[in-house]
Amino acid sequence: MKKITTKSFIDMKSKNEKITMLTAYDYSTAKLVDQVGIESILVGDSLGMTMLGYDDTLKVTVDDIIHHTKAVVRGTKNAFVIADMPFLSYHISVEESIRNAGRMIQEGGAQSVKLEGGRNIIDKIEGIIKAQIPVCGHLGLTPQSVNMFGGFKVQGKTIEAAKVLIDDALLLEKAGVFAIVLEGIPAKLAKLISEKLTIPTIGIGAGKDCDGQVLVIQDMLGMYSDFTPKFVKKYAELNKEMTTAIEDFISDVKNKSFPEEKHTYQIDEEFIEKLY
Ligand code: KIV
Repeated sequence: MKKITTKSFIDMKSKNEKITMLTAYDYSTAKLVDQVGIESILVGDSLGMTMLGYDDTLKVTVDDIIHHTKAVVRGTKNAFVIADMPFLSYHISVEESIRNAGRMIQEGGAQSVKLEGGRNIIDKIEGIIKAQIPVCGHLGLTPQSVNMFGGFKVQGKTIEAAKVLIDDALLLEKAGVFAIVLEGIPAKLAKLISEKLTIPTIGIGAGKDCDGQVLVIQDMLGMYSDFTPKFVKKYAELNKEMTTAIEDFISDVKNKSFPEEKHTYQIDEEFIEKLY
């Protein structure tokens, strides 16, 4: 497989080829995801919940994302790596936004950044793109706005809200983003937005007509059990497998059946005798 670029995203949309994206936050997972052939890895601020145990994404810092992005990039050969810009890292000024986005690229090694929002942050998106950093947009149920939304609620359900989302998507495209994540919006609205854009939409809880799909890896592997949104399909139940494995380890150690001979380094008996 060839290294995926922003151009690959546009090409895949024009060929009606669906784009796959998963989150990853560490070297081993990124390596696996990349080797299996996922086109894009998102170092999402969802790591606040899945990796750090927070209730939401708001406490995640630029340094947290950079730390995890470095590990993901070390494990990735072909997939396109997107680093999430965390809460308040792109809200204060254009200059600060460019500096933070630049750190994701220079220190983290990501190929692009993702920002949540539309018209409210358009100047920051334009500034980052002018600095030659590819930007992925994110509209709809943007988790960093949880306190404004009054919870993790599906967005775009009134005519006014849907129109704002459509206009924001067009605004982001005009600003030069290479793709837009559409999260938690009705499928028919996501379809309409996807048809209006030449850049691809990547859906999460936005139906099957988006140009690609993204899931949080812990959700789809059945590893994160605190909360499972309706849109998650569990492709595995790793929680169960991991529980069984850990239980087996505990019982093996307790009943002295681990380690076995084959797990053990040997040395001549007379060597040991000389130590007494
Ligand atoms: O942080 C994240 O994982 C995300 C995805 C849910 C799109 O933004």
